[in-house]
Amino acid sequence: MPPKSTSNSKLLAWVDEVKTLCQPDSVYWCDGTQDEYDRLAGELVEAGKLIRLNPQKRPNSFLARSDASDVARVEDKTYVCTTDKVDAGPTNNWMDPALMKEKLTGLFQGSMKGRTMYVVPYSMGPIGSPLSHIGVELTDSPYVVLSMKLMTRMGSQVLEVLGDSPDYVPCLHSVGAPLSSGKSDVAWPCNPETKYIVHFPETREIWSYGSGYGGNALLGKKCFALRIASTMARDEGWLAEHMLVLGLESPQGKKLYVSAAFPSACGKTNLAMLIPPDNFKDWKVTTIGDDIAWLKPGKDGQLYAINPEAGYFGVAPGTSAKTNPNALAMLQSNCLFTNVALTADGDVWWEGLGEPPGQLIDWQGSEWTPGCGRKAAHPNSRFTVSATQCPSLDPNWDDPKGVPISAFIFGGRRSNTQPLVLETPDWNKGVYAAASMGSETTAAATGKVGEVRRDPMAMLPFCGYHMGDYFKHWLAVGNSISSPPKIFCVNWFLTDENGRFMWPGFGENMRVLKWIFERVESKAPAVSSPLGLVPEFQDIDWTGLESISSADWDKLMAIDPQLWSLELSRRDDFFKRLADRLPNEFVAIQDELKARLG
Ligand code: GTP
Ligand code: SPV
Ligand code: MN
Repeated sequence: MPPKSTSNSKLLAWVDEVKTLCQPDSVYWCDGTQDEYDRLAGELVEAGKLIRLNPQKRPNSFLARSDASDVARVEDKTYVCTTDKVDAGPTNNWMDPALMKEKLTGLFQGSMKGRTMYVVPYSMGPIGSPLSHIGVELTDSPYVVLSMKLMTRMGSQVLEVLGDSPDYVPCLHSVGAPLSSGKSDVAWPCNPETKYIVHFPETREIWSYGSGYGGNALLGKKCFALRIASTMARDEGWLAEHMLVLGLESPQGKKLYVSAAFPSACGKTNLAMLIPPDNFKDWKVTTIGDDIAWLKPGKDGQLYAINPEAGYFGVAPGTSAKTNPNALAMLQSNCLFTNVALTADGDVWWEGLGEPPGQLIDWQGSEWTPGCGRKAAHPNSRFTVSATQCPSLDPNWDDPKGVPISAFIFGGRRSNTQPLVLETPDWNKGVYAAASMGSETTAAATGKVGEVRRDPMAMLPFCGYHMGDYFKHWLAVGNSISSPPKIFCVNWFLTDENGRFMWPGFGENMRVLKWIFERVESKAPAVSSPLGLVPEFQDIDWTGLESISSADWDKLMAIDPQLWSLELSRRDDFFKRLADRLPNEFVAIQDELKARLG
């Protein structure tokens, strides 16, 4: 039954329509309370679909193990359905909206049989903020309900704010595994053969079928807050980006906000929660968000950012007391883990956390011992936790106005070619640099890992429209405001001849952040290079770090003509695909760059 307060006729009619189509046994309207969370989690434990972790070690925390076929986003099954194919652009899969609806209607027919359909009202952004938007997800996955409770502002309050307004994004989700009567369920229902993650930007609708994992199923995240929101942003003059937002405060008490785009599993969570090294203890880094930013021009000519999410769905492997102590601290309790390993005493473990225990149960539920040759945790195993558990949470993280952004940072995962840090000379050149970014693929999406692909603004899998139009929109937004952020490029992932990382990274990234801070404040020196303005060795604060010599620095900042010739030809190939809508500005900028690189 819908709560008495809900008389929203569009919503009630849609819920009825989906109920008739999907034929769930029952419909449950989520109120978003802790009681509800505890009850649903308890039921899943009872049913063997979640493992309650040792309450002494991880109070109120759970482990879920997914089906082995359902472990990451499925980019090849992700569609943007616009009336005209060209509007989706060559980087998105496309199908005619009417044909896709017909196909999906067939799949959703009876797809929730034997299950409960949950109605999940949620707000992306602080409830009631002018920068926020509402979504309602209908799902047959209680795991998704738990995740949405941690990741968004979810429940009755959202229905109250929505009132009778038709202004919400309908998000339909089914794991695509109906239960015929009497048949028992599996621990992680999904559809191993058929998955469709589908967006209809023109009608602002999302239909997701067959997967229960992450961005495929938590529809507020990539589907709404990036793919649908990017099209809303294009139409309304703002930006929806795959970016962390952090606060950076100097020892003098001057505070700036910075937003950074890195592709999936390339260091956003780590940077957003950075703890400065010992000699920088008077500097403070605070966290607004770790994955998505919505940015709108303010009346004062600055861009203001909110984090539309209210929790973190972070990569577990590699998270340790050394790499991200804030994350470890926030994972002590009230946490939902997926596809990590289980210890004998009911705690969690993953690669990179520290010495492995002598024995574990791996992410698939099998016995695991060190040296057995398998990973204990899946490389895309994740934690889900509410933002309020983050020790570095910024006091303004929930501010409905958002925070003013002084700098954008773009960074791919490149073992060579792209130097450690540079500042682009102006907005247009910065947008060009961000648009031509390349990065090695990671386990966050199914498919090949470690292949260099173009990933403009870290948005390749998340832009809901033609990438050429997206670049034009970026140029227009920055050129329409008086104080656009400065644009920087970084690369933490350079390797030496032996494949070892040359830059210590993690907390040591503070040294680069400090230079960026001082550039924004016009206080740090820089020299020109063919790619933009760069620091010299002595321009970086090295106190407390002896391991980087000036010769190492030269390697970290090298611009190799041969590698750059290859890089430019790869950019050409990519831009050719977008030629019909590529901004003219890019051609001149790239020609000039070619000339400078000689
Ligand atoms: P999504 O949640 O998938 O969007 O990714 P994210 O960008 O938040 O990724 P996250 O911060 O969780 O990055 C995880 C991976 O990046 C792990 O393999 C880390 O070890 C690695 N990583 C993060 N920061 C650094 C760094 O400064 N240097 C190096 N070498 N690796 C890093
Ligand atoms: C990413 O892949 O960029 C993520 C994880 O942040 S997911 O929510 O699965 O998209
Ligand atoms: Mn992400």
